[in-house]
Amino acid sequence: MRLEASQIDHGEQQLPWAKRGWLASEDYYAFWGAVLAGDDLRARMDGRQVADIGAGNGRIWQAALEQGLEPDGLRLIDPDLGVVPELAARPNVLAQKNALEEVAPVTADVALFKQSFHLIYNKFGSEMFDLVQADTYLTFAMPKEIEWPASEAFMGLYRPTYLDYHQIIEESGKTVVEENCYEYAVQMARSEWIAMLEHRFVSCLAECDERFIADEIDWAMHNLPEELVFNDTLECLVFE
Ligand SMILES: C[S@@+](CC[C@H](N)C(=O)[O-])C[C@H]1O[C@@H](n2cnc3c(N)ncnc32)[C@H](O)[C@@H]1O
Repeated sequence: MRLEASQIDHGEQQLPWAKRGWLASEDYYAFWGAVLAGDDLRARMDGRQVADIGAGNGRIWQAALEQGLEPDGLRLIDPDLGVVPELAARPNVLAQKNALEEVAPVTADVALFKQSFHLIYNKFGSEMFDLVQADTYLTFAMPKEIEWPASEAFMGLYRPTYLDYHQIIEESGKTVVEENCYEYAVQMARSEWIAMLEHRFVSCLAECDERFIADEIDWAMHNLPEELVFNDTLECLVFE
């Protein structure tokens, strides 16, 4: 299914993922575009069919293509997909505003999950590998330890929601062939961070109650400086 430009929610305000502090900045898209088009990963995707499961707004791909990445085909799948029209209009891009289960099985040479593997795996377990069949899988996932300043309660909530990717991969009979860490330097106002807490833009907050959010905001007000500086770190595992 190809979406026409008029069907695509590219107005960032319409998307829940739009007001995500640094996560919705042009600089952040350019950083991740450079990672995808960079020396570590580019050779895995050039000339191949790539599927991004849980692509979100898909903006990093626009940046990656502008920076020279040349996949043969790019398939972006997400129920909240919001790609820009220039990207969706490219002849080798298939933009699908669907949940994976609505379009599965998805076959590709390379399947990528950027901060979406845990959601898909929690839902489908190892059956996700029947829904997404690829020669190579790439994940970008948050590390085991939280890297921004947070309360003990937040850390307690975060840690158990982090999956042990190595164990899942091993149990699925697959092998990690490459591991990298990518760090995006974040500088943001405390007020922006508080807005992110209010909107639950950290996935482990999705299920917690209002009391927890209120306490975390209170903790942030009393413990964080007005300007926050930290590295947003994602671990990348390439497995086959
Ligand atoms: C934390 S966001 C990451 C978005 C994007 N990859 C990024 O890094 O900015 C997780 C995404 O997974 C998507 N998602 C959740 N369940 C999904 C499913 N069953 N099929 C496809 N996408 C799903 C959500 O809609 C959301 O956009």
